[in-house]
Amino acid sequence: MPHTRLRPTFPLTEERLAELNAIVPEALADGKINWDVLREILGEHLDDEGAQAEHFGLFWPGKRAARHLAVVPSRGTIVPVAGEGVREATTRNLFIEGDNLEVLKLLQKSYAGQVKMIYIDPPFNTGNDFVYMDDFADPLGDYLRKTGQSDERGKLLTTNSRADGRFHSNWLSMIYPRLRLARGLLREDGVIFISIDDNEVHNLRHIMNEVFGEEAFVACFVWHRRQIPDSRNESKVSTDHEYVLCYRKSVTPLRGLDRDPGLFSNPDDDPRGPWTSTDLTGLATKDQRPNLHYVIKDPSTGRKYSPPPERGWAISKERFEQFIAEGRILWPPKPTGRPRAKRFFNDNKNETTSLSSVLEDVAFTQDGTKEIQDLFGEKVMSFPKPSKLIKLFVQQASDPDSLLLDFFAGCAPTAQAVFELNREDGGARRLVLIQLPEPTPEDSVAARAGFATMAELGKERIRRVIKKMTKERAPEGKEDLGFRVMKLTESNFKRWHDYAGSDIDEVQTFFEQVETPLAEEWTPEGLLAEVMLLEGFPLDSTVEPFAGAQKSGVSVVTSEYSGHRLLFSFDKELQDKVLGEIEFAEGDVFVCLDSSLTDAQKIRLADRCNLKTI
Ligand SMILES: C[S@@+](CC[C@H](N)C(=O)[O-])C[C@H]1O[C@@H](n2cnc3c(N)ncnc32)[C@H](O)[C@@H]1O
Repeated sequence: MPHTRLRPTFPLTEERLAELNAIVPEALADGKINWDVLREILGEHLDDEGAQAEHFGLFWPGKRAARHLAVVPSRGTIVPVAGEGVREATTRNLFIEGDNLEVLKLLQKSYAGQVKMIYIDPPFNTGNDFVYMDDFADPLGDYLRKTGQSDERGKLLTTNSRADGRFHSNWLSMIYPRLRLARGLLREDGVIFISIDDNEVHNLRHIMNEVFGEEAFVACFVWHRRQIPDSRNESKVSTDHEYVLCYRKSVTPLRGLDRDPGLFSNPDDDPRGPWTSTDLTGLATKDQRPNLHYVIKDPSTGRKYSPPPERGWAISKERFEQFIAEGRILWPPKPTGRPRAKRFFNDNKNETTSLSSVLEDVAFTQDGTKEIQDLFGEKVMSFPKPSKLIKLFVQQASDPDSLLLDFFAGCAPTAQAVFELNREDGGARRLVLIQLPEPTPEDSVAARAGFATMAELGKERIRRVIKKMTKERAPEGKEDLGFRVMKLTESNFKRWHDYAGSDIDEVQTFFEQVETPLAEEWTPEGLLAEVMLLEGFPLDSTVEPFAGAQKSGVSVVTSEYSGHRLLFSFDKELQDKVLGEIEFAEGDVFVCLDSSLTDAQKIRLADRCNLKTI
């Protein structure tokens, strides 16, 4: 088995090339695309005018750069922050503080194809929104500067004002790479919901059609959010709704709504239970469906119901007779009346009705505000989404054990929605939230209440929801009423630069870097999280000391999503005795410091496992 040096690279482009290679291997040779072959294969589907062709689609200045941004690997990592969460040792829920573009990149390997449902509520681009302008040259450095994590301080966000000539372009360039990365995380049966308003709904649909495909469109829900119309508008139109765009990755439908048992009753004590009366008249003329035009006779009275309805019956004569035999027909008192049928509630217990694309009485914005006021005693957030709205989407598109994601978490209504739904249906849904440490506006209620950033507010909301729910009832069974906090930061590895110069001192430094690739500030917890992400292990994987080598410092990482284990030790030295005790299974990876092994140990270990040294 191989021995390789572990380095912080996420092969985003390589993975897409591998996908291309799987579909059209003949168009790739030595990892390079042969355009002529690819053109031949694509044949009639190709825009034959070449680069100058006019395409259908949405274009804006900066689109190419935005597309590229999605594939530039992040040079950051995500490190755990102990002490800010609740039930940290056991929970699988995560709150990641950072810019979602970088974080989504870092999650690409470990969470690829695992998220069942994504809900996001990005800035709407109202003209007053703060939009995080990505620095194409150095996104992580820019983020660290802006959040004061590096020496230079910077302003975190810039208002995207309508006066800016690139008003829409700025927003589109922000959202586009994030949606591309989000798609990579969705399961094949995954669904994404995006809250948006009139400012960008049309552009967002174009982008979603491009990133997910037009056929992936499920609905553009219209959410009635404002109960009392706003009469201050100059246009004299009160916009009382927002939209929620819904796309799915493949053909999985939403769940729909359970039938309302209130519509069924049992006035005649039918032993088959509550029923409702249904119409049996049809929709087709005699010419169109002659077999649905027939005369019906009540066998108990001999009364005939003739002529049949103008558009015939809804069911065939045989089925009608079966209904008569089963005592399902409700005979009218007059021969001019129409027989109807009993439909029992128990007939199709699991049958659901469709969810309306107009979300009328789900919840209103003021319900979201009330939730915040109830939890904090004051309005620390303007226009938060009501958790009930998000709960509806979670109900519609997740299973009780699903992994869910919200990467514009704000004050974390999604956490409340997921916790409450889990409690209601006994589910064990897990959640990853991502939120920028966006400073709360100076002199805002939130700032005065001591919340310097939106991330602080989001975390506190989760803590308060957990406290309230725990007070009502301690968590039971698989219920996960906790969360861990993680933070986007500089990699534990030194920043790698290819060296092309000839200065002897620089060459010396360069080689030292190769010798010790870890940054001075590296920590074992941070390095472990980084290694897990690099090796494709989700951050909620189980980490345990290696049984049998308790004092060895060797630990084992396992995950339901991985067929092999990740074993690691960041100790300075590794004893033969310890290494000898480890029984490696097929595919197991062992990660340790390069300096902790002798050359002979490396050779022996590489024989037994997939050895990766740092
Ligand atoms: C419309 S608010 C979301 C509100 C949330 N649904 C709620 O009800 O509180 C959008 C949030 O996304 C955050 N945000 C904006 N850009 C971001 C980025 N690049 N990464 C992570 N979060 C971001 C903002 O700080 C803001 O809190």
